[in-house]
Amino acid sequence: MTGDGFAASQTAAAAGEHGLSRSPQTRRPLVAQAPSASARPTKAARRVRLEGLDAYYGDNHALRGLDLEFEPNKVTAIIGPSGCGKSTMIRCINRMHEEIPGARAEGKVCLDQVDVYDPSVNVVAVRRAIGMVFQKPNPFPTMSIFDNVASGIRLSGASRADLRDRVERALRGAGLWDEVKDRLAEPGIGLSGGQQQRLCIARTMAVDPEVLLMDEPCSALDPIATLKVEELLADLKQRVTVVLVTHNMQQAARVADSTAFLLDGELVEVGATDEMFTQPKDSRTEDYVTGKFG
Ligand SMILES: Nc1ncnc2c1ncn2[C@@H]1O[C@H](COP(=O)(O)OP(=O)(O)OP(=O)(O)O)[C@@H](O)[C@H]1O
Ligand SMILES: [Mg+2]
Repeated sequence: MTGDGFAASQTAAAAGEHGLSRSPQTRRPLVAQAPSASARPTKAARRVRLEGLDAYYGDNHALRGLDLEFEPNKVTAIIGPSGCGKSTMIRCINRMHEEIPGARAEGKVCLDQVDVYDPSVNVVAVRRAIGMVFQKPNPFPTMSIFDNVASGIRLSGASRADLRDRVERALRGAGLWDEVKDRLAEPGIGLSGGQQQRLCIARTMAVDPEVLLMDEPCSALDPIATLKVEELLADLKQRVTVVLVTHNMQQAARVADSTAFLLDGELVEVGATDEMFTQPKDSRTEDYVTGKFG
């Protein structure tokens, strides 16, 4: 999506810096972690910028020229009625959208200065840098709690001792360690729904992403499990940029720094969460947040 050769080579160089380049030699290895289980990774969160993003399913034009920015180390909530394009938008960010038969995207999705749709960019690295947690917890069904978290780390060639530390740290980071430390060899699917969702968050965070996409992560959870995930977000955003799709307006108000309102595939309004809920600029936002439709 870069027009001339110079721009393309600049993008390729930047992609190398991010570890997103196609060439394995220039890809940044996953950072070796400090041994302490409580130490934080030092990797920076990235700014995500959508520029003129269009998405289609065949003839269905599901996203229409979205321009939107997600700030590093902040939680941005995406709200809007069913079918407005929230899931489509976040699947475009980590290039999952194009996996759907007949689906395509146009425009830019920049991770800092790198357009993740640039041909020089490695799509596997994009999905590692931009982790995703889904509505329904989806632990790997045949794997233990430990292996669910370890599976991605192993691909980075971590040593055995390092692996144990990183699994522990990821589970601590997801607020799950104390509940599972004595049953790490048991199946992940034996956990409660809320625990499974935190396991999936641990699995995603274990490979040290720069951005975390969450598509209604609490909609299958009870209020206590929901509260635990919400509490986690304050901690997770110290490490990543968080994009949170939610139908729950109170949840957006509780956890999001900014909120964006989508309608029929278009961005209606984005702003500081408290302003979006108390003094929205667009009457359609006001109607939505006050429950007049959707
Ligand atoms: N896999 C798909 N194949 C074809 N069309 C799809 C697919 N997924 C979504 N769509 C269409 O794209 C549009 C946006 O859907 P999307 O799932 O992004 O909405 P949403 O805002 O996430 O809705 P919800 O709140 O119900 O999850 C809708 O018209 C939907 O029918
Ligand atoms: Mg959705």
